[in-house]
Amino acid sequence: MGDRYALIGNPVAHSKSPAIHAAFARATGQDIDYGLIEAPLEAFAPAVERFRAAGGKGLNVTLPFKQEAFRLCTRMSERARAARAVNTLRFEDSFGDNTDGVGLVRDLAGNLGISLEGKSVLLLGAGGAAQGVVGALLEARVARLAIANRTPAKAQALAARFRGVSASGYDALAGEAFDIVVNATSAGLANESPPLPAGVLQPKALAYDMVYGRDTPFLAQARKAGARACDGLGMLVEQAGESFFLWRGVRPDTRAVLEQLRGA
Ligand code: ATR
Repeated sequence: MGDRYALIGNPVAHSKSPAIHAAFARATGQDIDYGLIEAPLEAFAPAVERFRAAGGKGLNVTLPFKQEAFRLCTRMSERARAARAVNTLRFEDSFGDNTDGVGLVRDLAGNLGISLEGKSVLLLGAGGAAQGVVGALLEARVARLAIANRTPAKAQALAARFRGVSASGYDALAGEAFDIVVNATSAGLANESPPLPAGVLQPKALAYDMVYGRDTPFLAQARKAGARACDGLGMLVEQAGESFFLWRGVRPDTRAVLEQLRGA
């Protein structure tokens, strides 16, 4: 058996991460096993410890545990510290990182051919998923970054941690338009859409939903408005590629794996 890794979250059953890491391992000749761990909501830390004690080498962390993983880490990257959320644990040096931001930016820039520089960007949501990408969007030199959330106070608290980011509820967006709108809410998982006022999504805009593997109401609304609509599969593959690199020191060909998954 190869070195053991896993995705830990709740729920994790339908995750594509095992297939993605298996494809990376095949393509790079790395001997790893990547499994799924569904941790009880109240017992994340013991589940991590059990996997580590059993010889596990590292974990990817998903919803709803990214903030808890951050609190468990004593050593971490700057980007994880800025995000206050961790999606990658490497046990050999007890290191935490967050690869979500780089995953989103690489999908937009590399796979979708969209330059972020000088663009106006609206980020929907203020939970763990949104938190992970603010720093990377700013580093990509967007001209404007606004965060909107159902609970405006959470958007304000997130924006206040960074320089030059605005925050509001959804109603306050009426009359505004953005080049790129990224949905980092979990609304799509409940088959709901954040209540975006009409007109925010213009025909030339890009609507990006971090949810993957289903057509969300947000993406349907975007297409109806004439905008380009993209799901989060590319971000999933790109953040996985960065985690794989952190663990194995080898960069997999993420584009090839993304094409393989899209074709399947
Ligand atoms: P995650 O780690 O996936 O971000 P989270 O921390 O629970 O999960 O955050 C979920 C996000 O989705 C929040 O921004 C939440 O808005 P609130 O902060 O107001 O709760 C947002 N969200 C979930 N369901 C939503 C819905 N139906 N409409 C709009 N926003 C929604």
